[in-house]
Amino acid sequence: MICVCIKLCKPKRVKLKDGRTVLLRRPEMKDLRQMTDYINSFVDEQAMIQIYKRLTLATERKWLRKMLAEIRSGRVHLIVAELDGKIVSITNLTKGEGRCEHVAEYGISVLKGYRRLGIATAISKRIIEIGKKDRNIKVITLQVYVPNKGAIRMYRKLGFRTVARLPRRISYKGKLIDEFIMDMKR
Ligand SMILES: CC(C)(COP(=O)(O)OP(=O)(O)OC[C@H]1O[C@@H](n2cnc3c(N)ncnc32)[C@H](O)[C@@H]1OP(=O)(O)O)[C@@H](O)C(=O)NCCC(=O)NCCS
Repeated sequence: MICVCIKLCKPKRVKLKDGRTVLLRRPEMKDLRQMTDYINSFVDEQAMIQIYKRLTLATERKWLRKMLAEIRSGRVHLIVAELDGKIVSITNLTKGEGRCEHVAEYGISVLKGYRRLGIATAISKRIIEIGKKDRNIKVITLQVYVPNKGAIRMYRKLGFRTVARLPRRISYKGKLIDEFIMDMKR
């Protein structure tokens, strides 16, 4: 399979609301330490994402190696946003398997301290643009915790619509909370 990401993931600069510029680019192995600190910051923050235990450098190394291979094979599209040399956002589209090969799961996060600047919107538009150029992707889907109002607002602005509500799906801070599935069709 030819990776459209290789062509489309050419580095791109985008201007933010505060006038600064982020660089949107593909990840590299040299990003390992930064990416580990990045993901662990969400664990420390108890952000509404699936990972809740800090990752070691070794675990993240395995994950990043696998991701880079999946990017090369075309199964995953992944972009990082870099601001002043720091990774401040990561987004991905991961294709399903078997009869769900046409469905790509989208994920997004932005580092605390860099939010409400338009970074998630900019990097998401880029990955969705890539997803739409990838002819094998027919549906882009995401899962979001129902109380994550800010994220849901952003997803709606991007064109996602809620297709299902899964009751008591997530254990978060000692409570069972609901999750939405939101989709975007090509
Ligand atoms: C959700 C998240 C990705 C948004 O990133 P961001 O870069 O701040 O988003 P943007 O600046 O592009 O915001 C776009 C719009 O989304 C909405 N929005 C984003 N965050 C919001 C918040 N905390 N409260 C209310 N609205 C919010 C707003 O409408 C915003 O536009 P505005 O700033 O002009 O009002 C970021 O807060 C994050 O990473 N949170 C922790 C991890 C997470 O929850 N990821 C999603 C898991 S499903």
